[in-house]
Amino acid sequence: MTVLLPATTTTRINKQRNIEGGCDGTGMELPFQLETDLERKIAADPEWQEGVVWGWTRPGHSEGQIMYHIADVLANIDRFASTPEERRKLRLITLIHDTLKYQVNQSLPTGGNRHATIARRFAERYIDDPALLDIIELHDEAFNSWRDGAARGHWDKAEARVKRLIERLGPSLPLYVRFYRADNQTSSKKPDSLLWFEQFLRSRGFDVPPWPEQGNQ
Ligand SMILES: [Fe+2]
Ligand SMILES: [Fe+2]
Repeated sequence: MTVLLPATTTTRINKQRNIEGGCDGTGMELPFQLETDLERKIAADPEWQEGVVWGWTRPGHSEGQIMYHIADVLANIDRFASTPEERRKLRLITLIHDTLKYQVNQSLPTGGNRHATIARRFAERYIDDPALLDIIELHDEAFNSWRDGAARGHWDKAEARVKRLIERLGPSLPLYVRFYRADNQTSSKKPDSLLWFEQFLRSRGFDVPPWPEQGNQ
């Protein structure tokens, strides 16, 4: 099991972060490299560019701006992806999944006003793989299910909700599991929902990929 960094360490690392990716044709300096024409096309979109510089350090988000969260998740994907094709897909999900948070209108009810739903609509301009679009839209649904139990004590509701998620994902579940791990195995997030989700999957007979060996991380 990977050891999570305490928040104080994360804050120190953030202060030391350098912009490593360079402009890469987007006119922006990013803390990660873009690798494909499609990634560069997405990153050239002004809405994406506005989204990655949005954010500030706050509880659960010590990384601050979205682009640093993307960098953390991309680094996890380098450890967790099992094939180059899986890595390519996970990178696309990562680039978009939280980037439209700044477009959420806090004065409106949820529904279509969720950041994941807005992200899916943005992604549809560039991606036509329904599995990737569904994972972008549902990327926080395992957390939302866990929260029904953890915050409100409704564990029966939590399990029913995560079952609906699994049914909706269908054959995309293994990719979702990889992404959820990469998205949640960051120093600013507590591992509780990830551990609960993976334990639930195991208890129902679903495959959960083994964790990389400590020395290989
Ligand atoms: Fe999210
Ligand atoms: Fe995220």
